Order: sequence, then structure tokens, then C-alpha cells
Amino acid sequence: MNPAGTPDAARPMSTRGAGQNRPVPQPVLRTARLTLAPLSDEHLDLEAELDADPQVMRYLTGRASTRAEVERAHQRRLAAAREVPGLGFWAGFAYEQFIGWWLLRPPHGPDQPKVAGEADLGYRLLRRHWRSGYATEGAHELIRYGFKTSGWPGSSARPWPSTPRPGPP
Ligand SMILES: CC(C)(COP(=O)(O)OP(=O)(O)OC[C@H]1O[C@@H](n2cnc3c(N)ncnc32)[C@H](O)[C@@H]1OP(=O)(O)O)[C@@H](O)C(=O)NCCC(=O)NCCS
Repeated sequence: MNPAGTPDAARPMSTRGAGQNRPVPQPVLRTARLTLAPLSDEHLDLEAELDADPQVMRYLTGRASTRAEVERAHQRRLAAAREVPGLGFWAGFAYEQFIGWWLLRPPHGPDQPKVAGEADLGYRLLRRHWRSGYATEGAHELIRYGFKTSGWPGSSARPWPSTPRPGPP
């Protein structure tokens, strides 16, 4: 992994191969402060640190995840990235530090039925990086990417139902 946590091989910035109308994998995305790298096995320890914080997991499972749970979640995240070329999870880094992850994937789960042309947007950040605008900055980039490269008519970001917004760190 290089210092930014991105794969050493540069990834294409388009979901289409040059003139071949062929889907290609998730690109590395960049914002003013963030580098968003497609989630891979080299990020597993970072996911474990993230999910080990009960405050981060407060409105998700309500408790810290075990290592085994994180490993299973990691496999599900990689599988999600194989579902639709160009979509999936991204690990975000700023100033060479891991910030958290972002996702852009087809809607999933009982309250998120799959709808053609729609994508679900989400993010989970280390608590020490809350209240710095990173979640919003990464989300803007994924929305830009989604509309630009795929021409989807819509995307959704659904907070956990009936839960208040996360409190201060
Ligand atoms: C959801 C979560 C990512 C939100 O984090 P967040 O810090 O509120 O969101 P942002 O990173 O966009 O930061 C926005 C805040 O940073 C502030 N901020 C500071 N510097 C900023 C900057 N340079 N640019 C923009 N905003 C900035 C904003 O004013 C805003 O603060 P406010 O809400 O008090 O007004 C975080 O709480 C989290 O990871 N929670 C655990 C996982 C979770 O619950 N996920 C959602 C379930 S789907």
C-alpha cells in the first residue's frame, strides 16, 4: 500500500474501457482532502479499528464488532463491489491517515429494494474525524461520480430508521 492507502496500480477514471463499451472496476476518486481507494484486503485492519468503536456502531448494531464479524463484513463488502462494475466500497484517506469508508452500491436489504438505476450512498468514519466535513466531502464526490459515469437517474441515502443523528464524539 502506498502512503495514501491507494493501490499501487492506477485505476481507470471511467466505468467504460476506451471505445470498447466494456465496464471496468471502481476508480480511485479524489477530492480536495480525500483519496478514496476501492476497498481491498489491505484495508481490513482499518475496518476492524472502525467497527471496534461502540460509538461508531451505536446506530448500526449498538456494540463494537468482533474481529470475526469484521472479517465477514469485509467479505460482504468485497462481494457487493462485484455486483455492479464501478460500484462498491471505498476506503478514504486524508493527509495519509485513514478516515473511514464510503459506499455507493445498488439498494439492498429489506427496506431498500433493488430499483434499476438507483444506488445507495453511505459512509462510516472514525470518531476522531467526525465534525470535519469529511463524510459530506466524500459523499459529494461519489454522487458526482455516480451521475457522471453511469447516468443514473437517482441515488438515495437513507439513515437508519427512527434514530437520531449521531451525537458529538
Ligand atoms: C455519520 C457520520 C459519518 C457523520 O459524521 P459528521 O462528522 O457529522 O459528518 P461530516 O464529516 O460531513 O462533518 C459535518 C460537520 O463537520 C463540520 N465541519 C468542520 N469542518 C468542515 C469543513 N471543512 N467542511 C465541511 N464541514 C465541516 C460541519 O459544520 C458539520 O458539523 P455540524 O453537523 O455540527 O454542523 C459519523 O457520525 C459516523 O461515522 N457515524 C457512525 C456510522 C453511522 O452512523 N453512519 C450512518 C448510518 S447509515
